Amino acid sequence: MINIIVNALIYIFPAYVANSSAVLFGGGKPIDLGKKVGGKRILGDGKTFRGFIFGALFGSLTGLGINIIKPGYFPVFLGLSLSIGGLIGDIIASFLKRRVGVKRGRPVPILDQIDFVIGAVMLGSLVEPPSGKALIFILLATPLIHLTANFLGYLLNFKENPW
Ligand code: CTP
Ligand code: MG
Repeated sequence: MINIIVNALIYIFPAYVANSSAVLFGGGKPIDLGKKVGGKRILGDGKTFRGFIFGALFGSLTGLGINIIKPGYFPVFLGLSLSIGGLIGDIIASFLKRRVGVKRGRPVPILDQIDFVIGAVMLGSLVEPPSGKALIFILLATPLIHLTANFLGYLLNFKENPW
């Protein structure tokens, strides 16, 4: 049991780092360049190039770090694919939020917490899929971990909203 949890957390950790790095280091030019479709922003000001690049960078470095600490355990490109997948999942969720009229930064519970994990596992699985049990743990535990992390980020003034 403990083993499954530890393996699950190690597997998804680069995606968590990618996601939080985007929050910490994001800002500046939005990926949608401010463009709208149907009177609504394509993605909104919350998805920026800087967030994506730093997210991909630090998430990949996290994967490489795990690879160094536990040689042979973590494929070299797993961190990169988890990170890019996570960042894309987050972007797709913003796209969907804008289409149904949810303003940037307004919460959509569950989707906001799970969007990057779904993207991360989908792209990460191309390199190495998690075990079925690890996946279940990741999906169940992430909303809780994410909410806690976001609340801390809000208290520390890194985030505008506590979600
Ligand atoms: N961020 C970024 N670039 C990204 C992802 C996130 O710059 N690719 C930063 C933005 O400053 C964003 C913050 O991280 O405001 C929090 O991300 P998130 O909660 O996903 O975005 P929201 O601002 O809540 O916007 P949305 O409603 O589109 O989810
Ligand atoms: Mg949000």
